[in-house]
Amino acid sequence: MDINQSAKERLGYPTQKPEALLDRIVLASSREGDTVLDPFCGCGTAVTVAQRLGRRWIGIDVIHLAISLIKARLADAFGDAIAKTYKVIGEPVDLSGARALAELDRYQFQYWALGLVGARPTPADQKKGADQGIDGRLYFHDDAAESGKTKQILFSVKSGKADVTHLRDLRGVIDREDADLGVLITLQEPTGPMRVEATSAGFYASPWGTNHPRLQIRTVAEMLAGQGIDMPPSRDLRTFKKAPKAKGKGKAERPDYSILPFMGLRDDPTTAPSAGETGATS
Ligand SMILES: C[S@@+](CC[C@H](N)C(=O)[O-])C[C@H]1O[C@@H](n2cnc3c(N)ncnc32)[C@H](O)[C@@H]1O
Repeated sequence: MDINQSAKERLGYPTQKPEALLDRIVLASSREGDTVLDPFCGCGTAVTVAQRLGRRWIGIDVIHLAISLIKARLADAFGDAIAKTYKVIGEPVDLSGARALAELDRYQFQYWALGLVGARPTPADQKKGADQGIDGRLYFHDDAAESGKTKQILFSVKSGKADVTHLRDLRGVIDREDADLGVLITLQEPTGPMRVEATSAGFYASPWGTNHPRLQIRTVAEMLAGQGIDMPPSRDLRTFKKAPKAKGKGKAERPDYSILPFMGLRDDPTTAPSAGETGATS
């Protein structure tokens, strides 16, 4: 049974199942407080339904793209605080874990690194075509008007040696795409010429009167330390197609890859999130 092409809950995951189907399966086969296991959890339909129906859950997937998507889906459905109630095991948590992931599979590294800032990865088959030179995108709306233009940040991710030519290339791609900002994510520290090139690209001036460097460099170490992108306040960030808000029990306030383990463990769906419950190991 596949999900209707125009369904609100559709997130673009090719094999996504309808929540109504999972509702029936979970209700028929478990009670509140039981644990639901989906060992191939994809974009997290079973996980989302289990959360909403007051079940504990374990979701497993091998691709980092699925992890990013599930995190965003849970936050959309139950609010950002949901992240404090589950543990993610298998993602890098420090620089050595990030290096190990990059050595193992540079695409998985890209998906994971882009997920740190909520950016949507460009599918591998599109990179040779229209999206050449773009590893990911993040959209924002900084116009007060509801009808305001959608602005975009383009990402390039370097797991190997990065130099000034990569920044110049990204600058060219920003101009070609008429994008607003560009960010080079790098595992290594940027060189002096890279910093000079970034500075020379000037600023994006937002309607709020704030200025943001048009070309930015973020090291993985900086991102792991919590440093995000210097961007305008946005009224609605829609990088991933937004999942609908959950209704019912667990409701809170708002709404061609390869091999690595992912496991999300939901501890107790009936208790409020407490500090320090979230953790991950690489
Ligand atoms: C058919 S999709 C699941 C979609 C899900 N039913 C939904 O509605 O969102 C299968 C998922 O299994 C994952 N997968 C494939 N091999 C796996 C493995 N050995 N261990 C864990 N996950 C795996 C894939 O990455 C993919 O996301």
